[in-house]
Amino acid sequence: MATSALALNGVDAFYGDSHVLQKVSFTLGEGRLLGLLGRNGAGKSTCMNVTVGLLPPRQGTIEVFGTPVTRLPPEQIAARGVALVPQGRRVFRSLSVQENLIVAARAPDPGSRHAPWTMETVFKMFPRLEERRNQISAHLSGGEQQMLAIGRALMQNPRVLLMDEPSEGLAPQIVAEVMATVRKLKDSGLSIVLVEQNPKLVFDIADDIVILNTGQVAVVSTAAEINQAGVDLRQHLGVF
Ligand SMILES: Nc1ncnc2c1ncn2[C@@H]1O[C@H](COP(=O)(O)OP(=O)(O)O)[C@@H](O)[C@H]1O
Ligand SMILES: [Mg+2]
Repeated sequence: MATSALALNGVDAFYGDSHVLQKVSFTLGEGRLLGLLGRNGAGKSTCMNVTVGLLPPRQGTIEVFGTPVTRLPPEQIAARGVALVPQGRRVFRSLSVQENLIVAARAPDPGSRHAPWTMETVFKMFPRLEERRNQISAHLSGGEQQMLAIGRALMQNPRVLLMDEPSEGLAPQIVAEVMATVRKLKDSGLSIVLVEQNPKLVFDIADDIVILNTGQVAVVSTAAEINQAGVDLRQHLGVF
């Protein structure tokens, strides 16, 4: 069986009394891209927060390359090679581009097969960030902030990259640039979870698709199967 980069097994998560994830299970294979879809409020970001340790699950387990990370603190999960590009970008607005990258840096795992990410390689991928390296991040455009958020995650030298709605609020041309970046990262062999509300952005890039509906997994499939056989996505995602 292919190596699993990330597995959620029967995860239940709560915000206070509110039961927002119910027995959520899915597996991201090594080097694959899993598109995690669902309406607003379905629980996609909560899955990401649980995975990186920001919200401990009440039940269930999370494994990274076969090693349990359930209820470890965020910095230890990051040290196992999981990085999140958070929804809404969340860069340090008062720091420069360069400072944002420096504070995110983490040495790669000794066993990593990938060439390590450095500020230079991030700038190679995003030349616009290099041009603005000394600018305060609050002054960047939305697209540039998204590139910086991705750059910050790459500086952690992840083996598993989680991207929470990286296209949100961006103009179509910038969305296309972001998706081209996602494709390059996939081609480099990274294992990726791409969270999206817009399935059109996901289907031609994803290997696997998971659809969440009100905190539960409604569909697990390959993108090819859904493209061929068709699934009534409107039922799960609303009209789009
Ligand atoms: N910090 C929070 N406190 C309480 N409820 C929350 C919090 N964050 C999200 N929720 C609720 O949890 C559910 C899932 O939210 P979320 O994971 O953000 O969904 P999605 O990312 O799919 O839009 C929603 O009903 C949302 O209102
Ligand atoms: Mg969300």
